[in-house]
Amino acid sequence: METFAEKIARAQDFLPINGTDFIEFYVGNAKQAAHFYKTAFGFQSEAYAGPETGVKDRASYVLRQNKIRIVLTSALHSDHPISTHVKKHGDGIKILALWVEDVEKAYHETTQRGARSYQAVSILSDKDGEIKTAGIYTYGETVHLFVERRNYTGPFMPGYVTWKSDYQPTESGLLYIDHCVGNVGWNRMNETVQWYEKVMGFVNILSFDDKQINTAYSALMSKVMSNGNGYVKFPINEPAEGKKKSQIEEYLEYYEGEGVQHAALATNDILLTVRRLKENGVEFLTAPPASYYEMLSKRVGKIDEDIQILQTLGILVDRDEEGYLLQIFTKPLQDRPTLFFEIIQRKGAQSFGAGNFKALFEAIEREQEKRGNL
Ligand code: FE2
Repeated sequence: METFAEKIARAQDFLPINGTDFIEFYVGNAKQAAHFYKTAFGFQSEAYAGPETGVKDRASYVLRQNKIRIVLTSALHSDHPISTHVKKHGDGIKILALWVEDVEKAYHETTQRGARSYQAVSILSDKDGEIKTAGIYTYGETVHLFVERRNYTGPFMPGYVTWKSDYQPTESGLLYIDHCVGNVGWNRMNETVQWYEKVMGFVNILSFDDKQINTAYSALMSKVMSNGNGYVKFPINEPAEGKKKSQIEEYLEYYEGEGVQHAALATNDILLTVRRLKENGVEFLTAPPASYYEMLSKRVGKIDEDIQILQTLGILVDRDEEGYLLQIFTKPLQDRPTLFFEIIQRKGAQSFGAGNFKALFEAIEREQEKRGNL
């Protein structure tokens, strides 16, 4: 069987990507959201833009933890496109920004291949240098913003100032963005996969159909798209018919369209990270039943971690040909049952925890049922 590395090698190289540059959330109250992500997840204050820095229509807070950079943005007036976005979708991830070597080429190549433009090439400059950006739409109203930061030495981007805060909570060991998952509508999977192949030069490295991902009630399909160096991976989910409403369908109803379902944040010590997050009040999906841990050794073989501790923390484990991984999922990060985070530690495995899908989805369904949406 072809390995992930071999599959990824088939990706086209017209769009070299160095990794995720940042993810930007459009939210109702960026000031409070920034406080939440600092307190709950241990992000650090990095940069700020708003009325005090000459930006009159919005406020943006940039938070950082190791290689993960998140931006929280709110508009200051009701007639702003960001307000319209938040009114429709609630708080959510609007921009998945990709760090590229050449923005003009990235924009030209992708729009030539049929991408819908979000923003033409723009050069932002100040005394610290310049940054080029350009953007295209992917699923729903979600955007891939290309960012070229050759010599820029200032905080985040021109227009931003360093955000010095007296409140710097302890980090939680989160290192980088492992993958970001999109939910698309009925019968939209193939179109979306083809879009990533044709427009972005990505390859499909993994597929699951509704026969593999289902519970007694709901089902979904999932395909993982990767760029040419494997630094950027976008799994795509589509709902499937089940006895009751698919959790993807619940997302689509509450987000009022397609969008980012979860961002997976990597750690190299998931026990420490999850303990710290729980102390900070982060809520995770209810742990799978005891039977999950009783059968764990048989399913995944020998692992370094104490199964008792994994069970206490509710951490899931899965194995593939290359190793194993540990993962856990938060409850939704806002009132609408839409965006959530995954915490993941990879020990060789390059896959996404398919063996856990059933346990995970049953846990999500327990929450869905409490909301009366199952
Ligand atoms: Fe994931």
